[in-house]
Amino acid sequence: MTTEIRVLDSEDDLIAAANLFRTAMVGFPPLSNLPPGQISKMLEPGRTVGAFVAGQLVGTADATTSRLTLPGGATVSHAAVSHIGVLPSFTRRGIATDLVRHQLRDFAARGEVVATLRASEATIYERYGYAVASSVQSVEVQTARAALRPDVGAGGPVRLLDAAEAWDVLPQIYAGNRPSRPGTVDRPGVWWQSLRLRTESLSGASYVAVHGEPGSESGFARYRPIDTETWFVSDQRTIVVEDFFAPTTDAYLGLLRFLLGLDLVDRVMFWMLPVDDPLPWLLLDRRAVRVAAVFDETWLRVVDAQEALAARRYPGDGAVTLAVDDPLLPNNSATFTIAGDGAEKTDRPPHLHVSIDGLGAVLLGGSTWRSLAVAGLVRADDPAALAVADRLFAVCAAPYAGFFF
Ligand SMILES: CC(C)(COP(=O)(O)OP(=O)(O)OC[C@H]1O[C@@H](n2cnc3c(N)ncnc32)[C@H](O)[C@@H]1OP(=O)(O)O)[C@@H](O)C(=O)NCCC(=O)NCCS
Repeated sequence: MTTEIRVLDSEDDLIAAANLFRTAMVGFPPLSNLPPGQISKMLEPGRTVGAFVAGQLVGTADATTSRLTLPGGATVSHAAVSHIGVLPSFTRRGIATDLVRHQLRDFAARGEVVATLRASEATIYERYGYAVASSVQSVEVQTARAALRPDVGAGGPVRLLDAAEAWDVLPQIYAGNRPSRPGTVDRPGVWWQSLRLRTESLSGASYVAVHGEPGSESGFARYRPIDTETWFVSDQRTIVVEDFFAPTTDAYLGLLRFLLGLDLVDRVMFWMLPVDDPLPWLLLDRRAVRVAAVFDETWLRVVDAQEALAARRYPGDGAVTLAVDDPLLPNNSATFTIAGDGAEKTDRPPHLHVSIDGLGAVLLGGSTWRSLAVAGLVRADDPAALAVADRLFAVCAAPYAGFFF
């Protein structure tokens, strides 16, 4: 069976690819009533590929050009991968493997430093060099118990936006207040278009609250009520906060007070908070907050190890030498010395041996070298080097993007 992979450009091909992905996902309905021209606004030109067998489109993948923040604040070019799907009647024949390898070669040729994705299953992407680089937590707050400590600040003003107005304003608020936290990604226009379409296709209420004076907003929350069938008499009225963009303390406090203070609402469910979110510390009764789940967010693939290691900052003392192994992109198979003043290629014998997925796991500071060594994902010729590497790769803020794409 020969698989041909090519870039999809025509509107018909892009819609076919989108629907193929949705068929592969089983639980997503096909796109319907898409206005002419709309699909091209939701995908970056030239970055959707299709896999064809005997002329039939049987698999697809796409990517969006973005930037990702590394520890220390530098941003690097980043391919945000999404919509990987293979028709159920063509799975387990190597088609996804062909698509992912094709993408990785393309990213390397474009000079992209990292690729990231969100995974539907945790068992698919490690074989291609991706690993979990950031996690998020879903958190439920019982509003009746959620009184804040007296010294918690007030935050700034918060107001609701009309849904139509919001889609113009939110991208500007995000781009104008991009956080320096590792793992932060740009949110390109094509994602806002897709998000708008998804949100507008949902029935039921949804709201956008923004923080800050008009024209100088610094954060926002998108939220909606769930389980509304018995809303009028329910004693568990719940809102889910789907997007909580609060990059400053003022924005965080203003939006938090607004959400916890909503009349009628018994429970606020934050879908995706950073794992180091300060919320329990703000409450007089920290048990008003319950972590409902912790799950993997960013799966990261280092495409250019030298650039990625050089762009990152290393706060610790000492030095460590790492041998990186990358069977798919052989340019990454090299040895690097890492110290407080940076990373450089070296011929010295390594203290630690790591495969490219292991490097992806530690790059943003979302995992420790020690954990990877316990799991057998890092081999330490010198066990003391693990502690040195952990001090060098330590971060002040847990990596977090706060966005699914
Ligand atoms: C995930 C998916 C794209 C894999 O496509 P595929 O063409 O069957 O993958 P391949 O044949 O190239 O498989 C490559 C390897 O991954 C393994 N694999 C693929 N999908 C897997 C899955 N869902 N769970 C566990 N292993 C999987 C295969 O067993 C194979 O292993 P091997 O190399 O040891 O033989 C396909 O199953 C699919 O479309 N699933 C539903 C949509 C989805 O979840 N997409 C991902 C969105 S993030």
